[in-house]
Amino acid sequence: CGIVGYAGGKRAVSVLLDTLSGLEYRGYDSAGVSVFDGDGIVTVKAKGRLQNLADRLKAEHPGLAGGCGIGHTRWATHGEPSDVNAHPHATEKLSLVHNGIIENYQQLRSRLLGEGYDFLSRTDTEVAAKLIDSLYHGDPIAAISEAQAILEGSYAFAILFADRPGEVYATRLGSPLIAAAGEGETFIASDVPAILPYSRRYALIGEKQIVRIDREGISLFEPDGSPAKLQMLTAEWSVEQAQKGGYDHFMLKEIYEQPRALADTVHPRISDGLPSFEAQDDIPEGFWRQFDTISIVACGTAMHAGMIGKNLIERLARIPVECDIASEFRYRDPILGKHSLVLLISQSGETADTLAALRLARERGATTLAVVNVTGSSIAREADYVIRTFAGPEIAVASTKAYSVQLSVMYLIAIRLALANRAVDDARARELTSGLLGAIETTKDVLGLNVEIKEYIKRYESLRDLFFLGRGLDYALSMEGSLKLKEISYIHCEAYAAGELKHGTISLVTEGVPVVAVATQETLLPKMVSNIKEVHSRGADVLLVCKQGLEVDPEIYSKRLDLPALDDLFMPVVGVIVLQLLAYHTAVLRGCDVDKPRNLAKSVTVE
Ligand code: G6P
Repeated sequence: CGIVGYAGGKRAVSVLLDTLSGLEYRGYDSAGVSVFDGDGIVTVKAKGRLQNLADRLKAEHPGLAGGCGIGHTRWATHGEPSDVNAHPHATEKLSLVHNGIIENYQQLRSRLLGEGYDFLSRTDTEVAAKLIDSLYHGDPIAAISEAQAILEGSYAFAILFADRPGEVYATRLGSPLIAAAGEGETFIASDVPAILPYSRRYALIGEKQIVRIDREGISLFEPDGSPAKLQMLTAEWSVEQAQKGGYDHFMLKEIYEQPRALADTVHPRISDGLPSFEAQDDIPEGFWRQFDTISIVACGTAMHAGMIGKNLIERLARIPVECDIASEFRYRDPILGKHSLVLLISQSGETADTLAALRLARERGATTLAVVNVTGSSIAREADYVIRTFAGPEIAVASTKAYSVQLSVMYLIAIRLALANRAVDDARARELTSGLLGAIETTKDVLGLNVEIKEYIKRYESLRDLFFLGRGLDYALSMEGSLKLKEISYIHCEAYAAGELKHGTISLVTEGVPVVAVATQETLLPKMVSNIKEVHSRGADVLLVCKQGLEVDPEIYSKRLDLPALDDLFMPVVGVIVLQLLAYHTAVLRGCDVDKPRNLAKSVTVE
């Protein structure tokens, strides 16, 4: 998750540990360094905190004095957090650290096994290290450039070649990487905060460009090996601003990370135009044919992703699904058997009630499948099967990108189940899969609504109550929008199934009461419009979140936000971004502590 590289006159180990500590805020589960020492490269890694690595270095290599090396803090994606899986990964010829996800690592692994390579770990990074090793014949730039033509996915690499002491090579695609220059020393880093204590002069590395640093300076190359122009910038940010990537809050940064997180989670699970969990998650295609009923169990935001999952699975696969709050599920004596699938969703993988529900489901003979973001977490370890989401570490307490990737997995599961149980044919399943990929592409456009939303919510500054309305998928989405807003802005809000409003709650709708009407479902639009009219005629101040091209009488709302015109089924993928931005800007406007809202914890390990 954090990459650093150093070439200069200081003791590389100290600089690497220090720069890595500048990236510590991002979260990690293991760390490691490789340093040139005498004739070779020394690599030291340790699970857990950076301090463990520092202790090990002190105990095992007290005299490690070389002035050039690379370092890494890892957030596990492939393979558990452990000493073996930690970076760097070394071969005889090189040592490498990696951020990102190599999507075609399974194929490459088989190919390299065929060429006689052995593998010590389960990681995609070891595959990348051995691939570059196999292509290296004395010219680092050529080997890296050849590897780029073969690797699919996202990456930032920093590499030491054993026969090139004093030099660090690095490249990137999709993952960030910078090079920085100080007095008689140079740096590589995945992010600006790492280098700020040493230098403020840095250069961004372009996609697939290759950079070499040594004591003398930085050399940049185009992907084909020709020299590239280096453009130095000056960092104006404080360390804290830099950690947030220039965004005011982690939450906003994470909202903007969603297109990448979605692509990272979904792409490795598409094979030949269809969802498949075989290669990535070791879940055979036959798995999906065994179940009569499905229970989705989770807490908070994850439960809201589950509500969408229920809707999708029932609609597409025609299998009955219940979606439950974990703390309710476990005490209601649920009916489970050997044809039941219990699907647990959890960002942290540590939520106490979700974990207890998992254990109960296993006791009762159900098959358990966990969708988790943190590899090696309790839920990931105990579930029969695991699908890992690749959102990367989420730092803001209010979950945003973790929800989106959970949602994307719900689509993949629903389509896979539908296909396995012959509820849709191959052609329709392909159409749905490409619909999902298309939806992910358009998330970038939705982020463009940011300023418009920020302007509009100025009217929410001294608000006490707000209502969200929606039908079908929009109702499930409204639940998440409402939770987001209340948790960070402390405004009392409720999400209502629009048709249910008239059975009580409409008594609260009076002159000026704000209502966010989520109306992205074309098939339900006439019904939804009637409900909007009901609140409008009682004086509600309506913000309409709608799909481009749908016709709604402008008289009944005060503002309309248009989302890309996708198939109804995929509207939550884009819709949630608007609701997240709405919550975010409202909380900022009201001076709330956005990233650390009162009374809330990121991971709730008590019942
Ligand atoms: C806490 C967090 C929420 C999260 C919920 C479930 O309440 O503040 O953001 O949705 O726990 O957490 P999990 O890690 O299981 O997804």
